[in-house]
Amino acid sequence: MCRSGSEFSLREDPVLAGLREETAALPDRIMQILPEEAQFLALLIRLTRARTVLEIGTFTGYSSLCMARALPAGGELITCDISEEWTTMARQAWQQAGVADRIDLRLGDAVETLDGLLLERGPDCVDFVFIDADKAHYPEYYEQSLALTRPGGLLVLDNTLWSGRVTDPAVQDADTLGVRKVNRTLLEDQRVDLSMLPMADGVTLARKR
Ligand SMILES: C[S@@+](CC[C@H](N)C(=O)[O-])C[C@H]1O[C@@H](n2cnc3c(N)ncnc32)[C@H](O)[C@@H]1O
Repeated sequence: MCRSGSEFSLREDPVLAGLREETAALPDRIMQILPEEAQFLALLIRLTRARTVLEIGTFTGYSSLCMARALPAGGELITCDISEEWTTMARQAWQQAGVADRIDLRLGDAVETLDGLLLERGPDCVDFVFIDADKAHYPEYYEQSLALTRPGGLLVLDNTLWSGRVTDPAVQDADTLGVRKVNRTLLEDQRVDLSMLPMADGVTLARKR
């Protein structure tokens, strides 16, 4: 029996594997997306021909690195986080992989960073968004990202199953409430086409109409 589909599908080079191993030594290592999901994001970027990508939640840079590599020549990834420490690791990996020149890291609270981006570039300036920061603010990140995304662009939200806690009414912490609220909004939201994939911890795709 096959132990894992990864042995037939995962393409992880030494830079990515090294970053994953380095991150695995951190207490917060669970925050990194699965390599299979990162590979999927890269595929989506290529399929949608995205040139300007926004990521909310950089951590140590694994997802950013995969997405940056998928960009066409002249493409850019804007990624934001509040942690100087984790993003220092990210910068090192991007340098090592030769993609640092196409990544614009913005340090600070994501709500403020996205407001700043909207002022700076106006609406519809982004082709693709990956939302993966603190879950309590997912509803705000979704609204801000939708404004920043061009019609036809794609928004990807991570952890939308939140280990099943979204369906358990007994769970009422801020993160669970944030994911639950954004899921309800998405379901009713006629501004987007929608699909929730039960991969990893739940990955929701929303295409702006
Ligand atoms: C789940 S991790 C991101 C994982 C990353 N996408 C990856 O796959 O390696 C969430 C990140 O969101 C950041 N974060 C938490 N609250 C934030 C906020 N208010 N503004 C910006 N970033 C925030 C954390 O510092 C953390 O690095």
